[in-house]
Amino acid sequence: MSRKPIDKGSLTHKNNRKPGKWRRWDKEDRLIFNTILKDLSDHPTVLRMKDYKQHGMTSTYDHCISVARVSYKLDRLLHSHCDRGALLRGALLHDLFLYDWHDPTTHEGLHGYRHADSALKNAIEHFNIGRKEQDIIHSHMWPLNITRIPKRREAWVVCMADKYVSLGETLHRR
Ligand SMILES: [Fe+2]
Ligand SMILES: [Fe+2]
Repeated sequence: MSRKPIDKGSLTHKNNRKPGKWRRWDKEDRLIFNTILKDLSDHPTVLRMKDYKQHGMTSTYDHCISVARVSYKLDRLLHSHCDRGALLRGALLHDLFLYDWHDPTTHEGLHGYRHADSALKNAIEHFNIGRKEQDIIHSHMWPLNITRIPKRREAWVVCMADKYVSLGETLHRR
């Protein structure tokens, strides 16, 4: 069966489709999402996030996938024309801190304030990420990290998506 080619504009920021329900997630969205993240989402370092719980029963890996998916949808809803590659990679790596944050002996300082630095350090060490991805990770805990105001549209979108997903995971303990 022949597969419909992906519109190259879809992988960057162009999206000419009519706006619909913001939560829509169809075959084409799935294909774009998987194409951008296919190497990263199967990487052993990223898969290590499956070993740690984020909120409720959700693993850090599943949390980051959800944040990436919501970031994609928010970008479409807001017509923010983000660089989709950077947006999704940054979202997937934003919590790559790689420890059990519920156990205070596994990390120094307060997790909420410090984990963005750990995630950024790990992301730079393991992946060839650019400035946009680094900014996304560095500022995703704003306004808790009050001085780290997101400076790019991609960082704003992931910052909002993270709050939305975290609230849902915490309220529903899923
Ligand atoms: Fe985080
Ligand atoms: Fe997060």
